[in-house]
Amino acid sequence: MGETVLVTGGAGYIGSHTALALIAAGHRVVVVDNFVNAKPDALAVVADITGQEIVVVEGDARDVKMLEHTMRENDVTAVIHMAALKAVGESVEMPLEYYGNNLESAISTLDAMRNTGVWKFVFSSSATVYGDPESCPIPESAPVGATNPYGMTKEMIELIIRDLSASDDRWKITSLRYFNPVGAHESGRIAEAPVGRPNNLMPMIMEVATGKRDKVMVFGDDWPTPDGTGVRDYIHIMDLVEGHVAALEHLEQQNGYEVYNLGQGSGVSVLELIRAVEGATGLEIPYEITSRRAGDIAECVADPTKANTVLGWETTRTIAEASRDAWNSQ
Ligand code: NAD
Ligand code: WQD
Repeated sequence: MGETVLVTGGAGYIGSHTALALIAAGHRVVVVDNFVNAKPDALAVVADITGQEIVVVEGDARDVKMLEHTMRENDVTAVIHMAALKAVGESVEMPLEYYGNNLESAISTLDAMRNTGVWKFVFSSSATVYGDPESCPIPESAPVGATNPYGMTKEMIELIIRDLSASDDRWKITSLRYFNPVGAHESGRIAEAPVGRPNNLMPMIMEVATGKRDKVMVFGDDWPTPDGTGVRDYIHIMDLVEGHVAALEHLEQQNGYEVYNLGQGSGVSVLELIRAVEGATGLEIPYEITSRRAGDIAECVADPTKANTVLGWETTRTIAEASRDAWNSQ
């Protein structure tokens, strides 16, 4: 049978790939997106690749009535809530917009779900909730302590859904804490294409690879890491979205609220990622070491054991494959 899944924010980078994985696993997809940070194009490509229709509603996830109508009209049985603003630096400049959009859209989506009797909810959380971790790899039991408004919205929404699931045992809720998603679907037909100057490393490397920028500015080589550059857990976007399918399908047998890390479990430095892209593309990626970026941390690597054992999900793709797929999508 499969589920009919409402993906809020489903036109974005992770949402469009999630739609692909959901359809490949036999589910149906309904998207609500206000297109503040996406265009409908990626979903049209997904519909073309899969040969399945995707219902796309242009609307705001803060609009409870529209969400209720969309869920009833399409017999939605589960929701993956991705709608959010996600730029860390911008969240420091515009905290009201971030708290407003991210908290209100989560609360409105949950409200609309309760009003229509839909109880399965998967939330796009982030490793950013761990702040500057005491040690790596990070298990889900590690203390949280986000260090910027964006991260705080994820931490606060996690608290809201924890309390909500304790209030009514019909709720089945999972938070997925993503580490650093990179790459694209193997077809190369959907890309991560940020508007303006990229904040994240892989999109920045891609803009240097395509010649749009001269070089990657590497934010510090004096971190306490093996080569002095920042270490992260880069996870192939297709592995990440398959984790959503596993989490969604597990909800049937889950009671209450659970949290899972979605990461590979191994760390890659900035210079290692640059070299991986050079290896995958045959191009030289010029870079320059510059000062540290405000708010950065040395290392952030997942302990994905819980998702591996409970969800039966594992990453299967390498950084080399993610680099190749990112490049193909350009
Ligand atoms: P994205 O910006 O590509 O996608 C988010 C989508 O939400 C966009 O299409 C945007 O138009 C939409 N949106 C925003 N506010 C909305 C609203 N009020 N109503 C309807 N639609 C709205 O970002 P992404 O990288 O695909 O991220 C998806 C989710 O995953 C976000 O919640 C993000 O915080 C989270 N996340 C992303 C990363 C990452 O590195 N990309 C890491 C951890 C968590
Ligand atoms: C990775 C590494 C940088 C750009 C951010 C958010 C996090 C999550 C994912 C949503 C770091 C270095 C980067 C550049 C560089 N998003 N870098 N030059 O900071 O781990 O996480 O995105 O939830 O919340 O904080 O990812 O890709 O920005 O940086 O040297 O031009 O690359 O210093 O070591 P980050 P990133």
